[in-house]
Amino acid sequence: MLKTISLNVNGNPCSGEVEPRTLLAHFLRDTLRLTGTHLGCVVGRCGACTVLWNGTPVKSCMVFAVQAAGDEIITVEGLVQDKRLHPLQEGFWKNDAVECGYCTPGMLMSAYGLLTKVSNPTEEQIKKAISGNLCRCTGYRNIVTAIKETAANFPG
Ligand code: FES
Ligand code: FES
Repeated sequence: MLKTISLNVNGNPCSGEVEPRTLLAHFLRDTLRLTGTHLGCVVGRCGACTVLWNGTPVKSCMVFAVQAAGDEIITVEGLVQDKRLHPLQEGFWKNDAVECGYCTPGMLMSAYGLLTKVSNPTEEQIKKAISGNLCRCTGYRNIVTAIKETAANFPG
């Protein structure tokens, strides 16, 4: 049985029909065509699918779309303003914190979630914030550096 849900995604009101079992990740990718949210494990382990749900980073493969009805979601596409990369995205680029890029949207959203709440995080806070995001390429060092550098000039 399909159910119509309405929610706010990246500042825009959106609606669509979903089955009760439809994952938020699938709704974002397949219905709204926001394919920046990546799918990896689909069992809550890799973090590639991380988005902000009412301001908190969540793995969108662990949330049913109907649970997010009426709520606010921010995906990696929502970081771009006026067609310009967000400073966090610039920071990843400048610090070579991206290799294959598969983990990057999820990493960015976990980092964004941290920086909207903690203005000058310690390295330990950064590591904890991205501890649910797996990267098989970078070794994490450059990612942590990118987040740390961006924090200094973070616009929120
Ligand atoms: S795809 Fe959601 S945690 Fe891996
Ligand atoms: S850059 Fe390849 S998985 Fe992180």
